[in-house]
Parts: sequence; structure tokens; C-alpha cells
Amino acid sequence: MINRTRRLRRNKIVRDMVSETSISKNDLIYPLFVVEGEGVKDEIPSMTGQFRYSIDNLLLEIKDLLDLGINSIILFGIPNSKDPYGKSSYDENGIIQKAVRKIKEKHPKMYVITDLCMCEYTSHGHCGILDEDGYVNNDKTLDSLSKIALSHARAGADMIAPSDMMDGRVKAIRDALDGEGFVNIPIMSYSAKYSSSFYGPFRDAADSAPSFGDRKTYQMDYRNSDEALRETEFDILEGCDLVIVKPALTYLDVVRRVKDNFNIPICAYFVSGEYQMLRDAVDKGLLNEDAILEAHYSIKRAGAKLIITYFAKDIAKKLK
Ligand code: PBG
Repeated sequence: MINRTRRLRRNKIVRDMVSETSISKNDLIYPLFVVEGEGVKDEIPSMTGQFRYSIDNLLLEIKDLLDLGINSIILFGIPNSKDPYGKSSYDENGIIQKAVRKIKEKHPKMYVITDLCMCEYTSHGHCGILDEDGYVNNDKTLDSLSKIALSHARAGADMIAPSDMMDGRVKAIRDALDGEGFVNIPIMSYSAKYSSSFYGPFRDAADSAPSFGDRKTYQMDYRNSDEALRETEFDILEGCDLVIVKPALTYLDVVRRVKDNFNIPICAYFVSGEYQMLRDAVDKGLLNEDAILEAHYSIKRAGAKLIITYFAKDIAKKLK
């Protein structure tokens, strides 16, 4: 016998010594949903243990996150009013703008990333401005996205994450931000964002399901991965600072291909449907709780630096 690979598995110390990947609290970004009103903390029916918060309760939650060592969040807004143009998305007194201002006032240490999209704000639920025939008009949407980005930046957002999947949006947003002097706000682009059934629970949570059709004319086709490299390349050329692959668990091959082809930090989004499948399996005792860590390590192994995950608190507690 020449090779005994079991030698390096003999006890926990040596296993830890030779472990190739690790998860730090710095890698975790926690998604939060914010609604208008006061005193609201409603559990989202499709997402066990996740809540919609009004701003007052959001601030309390953020205090808990900081105490756990989670220093970054990504915010999703659920507005009171919607219209075909999604105007409430760039209202200076819109839900996200108010929330960011308050968070930065109370908890300036929390790093606030804002998801930039229109689907929560449009009455039709699509991620942009519609032509008469219902097609999402790319270039008209870019104007709105720029306005939203500016309103987030003025409110104090630390990083902007466009998730709409329009072509040319990174450049449009970069130009708009730079034009107002926000040269130091990074853009984390959802570069490889697939048209996925795994977003189902999120759409219930954010009330953002399209009222007709689907998102296949702008989000990516799940049969492709060469296309993910093209999307990533264009976003990098347009000046994004980090890239997102989404979903995560079902797209680990894409994470790895992006890692091997580009030199830029990758964030993988462990999406709502992936969360709920695993949550259910663990809660029902079908899987051991360690499955949660194992799933996150698979994402790190694939090459992601950051993970947006509804499990962030569970993991932070385990790392304590
Ligand atoms: C907005 C957006 C979506 C998600 C994040 N940003 C929904 C969608 O594209 O339909 C999904 C996140 C999740 O499922 O956890 N466009």
C-alpha cells in the first residue's frame, strides 16, 4: 500500500489542518424584506423563519445581526403602491430609501447593499418598462434603473446590486452614479441570473410575481452556461466590481466556470427555493442539520467568495 489518504482524516485536528476551504462571517450577506407601517414582523408563509419587517423592527433585527457578527445585508423593498412604471422605486421617500437612511443613522456599521430591480414596484410585476405588446423595453428601463440607483446612493446605500438583467445596465448605472460623484459605490451585478423556478417563495415574499408571462426574455435560459461567461464578461467590461451567480446550489458549475475564467470576486445567491427545500428537510428531520453547512461549503468549493443566504444567522451561530 503506497497511498493511504485516510492518514489525513484520522482526527479532527489534522482534518482541520488540511481543510481547503473555510466560511467566515465576512462571507455572509443576509437578505431582508422591508414594508411600510409600524410594528410589523410578519413571517413569510413560503419561507420558514424569514420575515417582512417595518423599519422600526428592521432596526432591531439589524442590531441582532451585528451582535451575531453579520455585517452585511441586502435589502428588498415592498412598496405600498405600484404602477406600470414602478415610480415608487425611485421615490426619495420610497420604502428602501427611508429604510437605508434610518439604518445608516442608527447602525452606520451595517454594510447595506440594495437590490436594484423594478418587479416589486411595477403593477405588472416585470423587471422593467413595458412596450405596448408587453415586451420589456431594455433601453427605456435603463433610465429608470439609473434613477433608482441614484436614489439609493443618496439615501446612503454602500453597494448597489442590479438584478433586472437588462443589457447595458452596469454602464448606465455606473455613469449615473459617477455623474453625481458617487464614484466609490461598488456595483455588484447579478451577471448570471437564471430564469428559475427556485425564486417562487421569494416572489410570494416580495409580491413580485409577473402578472402575465414569465421572465424568459431577460433572465437566462437554464440550459446554458457559455452564455453566463458572456454575461459576466460584458458586465466586467461595463465596470462592475463583483458578480453574482444565481441560483447557487443548482448552478455550482456556473460558479466554477466564472471562477476559472475571470479574476473578480464572485457572490452566489442561495435563493429562496433552495433555502426552503433544505429548511423543510432539516426541520422535518429528514436531513441532519449539518447539511446546511455542507451546502454552503459546496458553494465555497465551487469558487464563490460571498454567499447571499437566508441561512446566514444559522451559520453565524454555528461559527461562534
Ligand atoms: C428581483 C429578484 C428576485 C430575486 C432576487 N431579486 C426575483 C426574481 O427575479 O423573480 C429572487 C431571490 C430568491 O429567490 O431568494 N428581480
